[in-house]
Amino acid sequence: MSMSAITDTSAFERNRGWYQTDLIEVNEPFHQLLERYSKIPSSDIIDHVKKIRDRAFESSPYPCIGLFRFTNLTLITHPLYDKIVGILKSESTDAAYLDIGCCFGQDLRRLVFDGVPSERLVGLDIERPLLELGYDLFLDRETLKSHFVIADILEAQGKTWESLEERGFDVIHCSAVFHLFTLDRQVIAAKHIARLVKKGGIIIGRQMGSVKPGDVPALTKGTFSYRHDVDTFDAMWKKVGEATQTRWNVEGVMDMVNINPNNYLEGEDSRRLLFTVTRIE
Ligand SMILES: C[S@@+](CC[C@H](N)C(=O)[O-])C[C@H]1O[C@@H](n2cnc3c(N)ncnc32)[C@H](O)[C@@H]1O
Repeated sequence: MSMSAITDTSAFERNRGWYQTDLIEVNEPFHQLLERYSKIPSSDIIDHVKKIRDRAFESSPYPCIGLFRFTNLTLITHPLYDKIVGILKSESTDAAYLDIGCCFGQDLRRLVFDGVPSERLVGLDIERPLLELGYDLFLDRETLKSHFVIADILEAQGKTWESLEERGFDVIHCSAVFHLFTLDRQVIAAKHIARLVKKGGIIIGRQMGSVKPGDVPALTKGTFSYRHDVDTFDAMWKKVGEATQTRWNVEGVMDMVNINPNNYLEGEDSRRLLFTVTRIE
């Protein structure tokens, strides 16, 4: 399929371009989470995931929903995952975690499955239906004590945002979010997010990067989003630091994990950019 499939057709046709009808199997970590955390019988899992996905795609027709990408638990692949679980479990601190653009809250549920007290975890997304469907996907509306908030990281205003700033977070997870925006908008979002991180705290995640950093066509016709390499991501956080009187250390690697160069959304220059941004001042 060519890039024109993204930009030149009606929204319905365009969205079908990233709607995968069938789900043949659910990968082991996600299957395990649904079986052991949500107590869904193994034989019901594929049907359950498909049903929730279809409900979600009606309100939020993103590729990550249509292509079942939300079933890839990627926080567990971050090199700091075990350390983060240790920090968030520790009884001597009251460490707090925020998942920005949490979608169904799948990575958050995995932390709970790995023993983190759920009240230490907050999920944030702009799409209320995804947060609601998260409870239906994981069957934990009565048990999960995490808070979920609806907020727009480009606006970052109002009582909800102020209370997030007041609380402050030790660990922020932000995966597949910055890459949705132009560089200017990424800077705006990063400045807002910077205000939520405690000194010494970290922002970790992964996103689509590129060996040739720059703009690529975004999902909506005529719009663009910016793909970083490690150097441009570092430069962005320098700018954010100067604007917010904070200082940040950026570490990152680019690899080919879950990258398909033949996919029209990706292409041969694309890489997975895995990052850790630490607030030093
Ligand atoms: C591609 S998904 C990534 C989901 C998940 N973090 C992951 O890694 O699979 C991007 C998520 O960011 C949310 N999002 C998009 N724009 C946002 C904004 N301005 N403020 C907050 N969340 C936003 C979307 O609703 C969606 O759930």
